[in-house]
Amino acid sequence: MTEEHLSYSEQETRQIARQFAASLQPGEIISLSGQLGSGKTVFMKGITEFFNCAEQLSSPTFSLFNIYQGSLECEEVTLHHFDLYRIESLRELEAIGFDEYLSIGYLSFVEWGERFPDYASLYTVSVSLEYAGDESRRIIIKRPVR
Ligand SMILES: Nc1ncnc2c1ncn2[C@@H]1O[C@H](COP(=O)(O)OP(=O)(O)OP(=O)(O)O)[C@@H](O)[C@H]1O
Ligand SMILES: [Mg+2]
Repeated sequence: MTEEHLSYSEQETRQIARQFAASLQPGEIISLSGQLGSGKTVFMKGITEFFNCAEQLSSPTFSLFNIYQGSLECEEVTLHHFDLYRIESLRELEAIGFDEYLSIGYLSFVEWGERFPDYASLYTVSVSLEYAGDESRRIIIKRPVR
C-alpha cells in the first residue's frame, strides 16, 4: 500500500505527519528516510505534536536517540526516535540498545534506518521525503505487503 502527498511548507509537512500519526497502531516501527534537509525531523515534530509531547531540549539532529513522553486519549505513550546518521557500525548500533528500544516503545521512529539493511524487515511502515522544489516535498508512505 502506497500513499503519496505533496507538501508546500514546513507547516503542511507537520500537518501530514499529524494525520499519519493518527493511523499508527501500538508497536509500530517507522522508518523515516530522505536526503539531508528533506524534512525528516520536521515530520517527526508533527508526530510529537499529535501525541502532545512536551518540547524536547535536545535537537534530534545532534543526538542519536530521543525519548518523548506524550499522551493519546489520556493514556501515556512513549515514543522512541533514533537518528542513525552518525552510527558507524552494527556493533555500535547494538551497543546503544537499538533492538531493545524498538521492541518496548509505544512507537519507534528511525531516521537513516536504510544505512543498516540488516534491520530493514523490522519496519512496519516507511516514510520517505523527497525534494520537489525549494519549499515543496513529496512524502511517500509505504506499508510492505506481508
Ligand atoms: N515542505 C517542507 N517540508 C518540510 N521542511 C521544509 C519544507 N520546505 C522547507 N523546509 C525546510 O527544510 C528543512 C528540513 O529540515 P529537517 O531538519 O527536518 O531535515 P532532515 O531530513 O531531518 O535532515 P537531516 O538528515 O540533516 O537530519 C527545514 O529547514 C524546513 O524549514
Ligand atoms: Mg533530521
